[in-house]
Order: sequence, then C-alpha cells, then structure tokens
Amino acid sequence: MSVKHYFSKNADKRAKFIFNLIAPIYGRLDKKLEAGFYSTVLILNNEINIAGKTILDIGSGTGAWSSSLNKFGPAYIQGIDFSEKMILQAQKNHPELKFNQGNAENLSEFEDNSFDIVTASFVLHGVKKEKRANILNEMNRISKKYIILNDFTGKTPLFIRFLEFMERSDYKNFKQNFCSEFKAKFNNTKKIRARYGTGLYIAQKY
Ligand SMILES: C[S@@+](CC[C@H](N)C(=O)[O-])C[C@H]1O[C@@H](n2cnc3c(N)ncnc32)[C@H](O)[C@@H]1O
Repeated sequence: MSVKHYFSKNADKRAKFIFNLIAPIYGRLDKKLEAGFYSTVLILNNEINIAGKTILDIGSGTGAWSSSLNKFGPAYIQGIDFSEKMILQAQKNHPELKFNQGNAENLSEFEDNSFDIVTASFVLHGVKKEKRANILNEMNRISKKYIILNDFTGKTPLFIRFLEFMERSDYKNFKQNFCSEFKAKFNNTKKIRARYGTGLYIAQKY
C-alpha cells in the first residue's frame, strides 16, 4: 500500500493504510494496552459474568482487548480485523487466541445470534456515523445477547486528541453523538465511565 492511501477519499482504504502502518508500534504497546484495559474489564465482569460466554471481538487490533477478556474465563474468543498487519501482531502476541481478517460492516461468515457477546474496543469512534450504524447492525445480528463497546466516554488527554486527528478518526462527533445513536438503536443500554475519558457502552438484546 502506498502513502497516497492516507489521502484517499475511500475511508476503508485510508484506515487500512494507517492501521497497517502503525501495527508494529501498536504491537509493541500491546502488553501496556492490555494492562490498561484490566480495570475496565473488571467493571464489565461485575455487570456481566464473562465466564463461559462466547465472544466475538470486532476490530481486535493487536489482541489486547481480547486477551484482557480472556483472563475472565470465557468459553471462546475470536477476533476479527480488516488490517492484515494488525492480525499478524495479534497472532504473534496471543497465539492462544484466534484472529481472522474480516470487515466489520459485512461479517456474513458469522451466523445470526452466534456469539453471547459481540464487542468492539476503540473501533467505532474511528468511523463515520453511517459506518458506525452498519457495524452496530452487524454486531446486533451476530450477538445472542450483549453488544459491548469499550470506547471514549468523556474528556481525554491532549495527546490522544492529537493521535485521533492524525488517524483522521470521527472522534469529536462520536463523543457528541454516540450516546444518542446507541440509545436509538437499542432499548436496554448502559454507559459506564472507566478511566481517562474512556468507558463502556453496554446493550442487552432482551
Ligand atoms: C484503534 S484500533 C483498536 C484495536 C483494539 N480493539 C484495541 O482496543 O486495542 C482500531 C482497530 O479497528 C480495526 N478496524 C477499523 N475499522 C474496521 C472495519 N471496518 N473492519 C474491521 N476492522 C476494522 C483497525 O484495523 C484497528 O485494528
């Protein structure tokens, strides 16, 4: 992939280019990310007993979120990501888990209601409203019960905002509008703040 993809009008091409480019750096931060996620997963585990559940982690990146969840005894976890370089990092860092390439907007390889939990960590703030809706639709279709997002919920440090700007994410709109987008889609939702302006959005299907 060439640098021209960074300026591409095609959002998927642009995102794949950026995430393939940063995958080796992200891979080195994986253990730190995983440690940082621990307190959030503790909060989640108090809400939902993770033990024995099947989990699909969408936009799994280097596998840090999957691996944090795995500490709480789920029956099975699988990650998917559209960046082949992120998948390579995840497979290297967490050989005990399964990671495959796939696009979160079209996951026809997974049947309806096939996982207890479908989750995405720091994926939805990166894409525009229309894509967010497509991804949430797929999460809803595949999930038997829970749709769980780990993402921004409040004010974040300046360097994060800078990284989001460089990543050309939809960070600002996400923070302003996502709560209402989420509530409009699901009847039973909960937002729980964790740390450093991040937290959980949890929806239950019934
Ligand atoms: C900011 S990273 C987060 C990685 C990981 N979930 C974590 O919390 O550490 C966002 C990830 O989502 C992936 N991603 C973004 N849009 C995607 C899509 N439409 N389909 C699959 N993966 C996607 C990117 O390739 C990247 O690995």
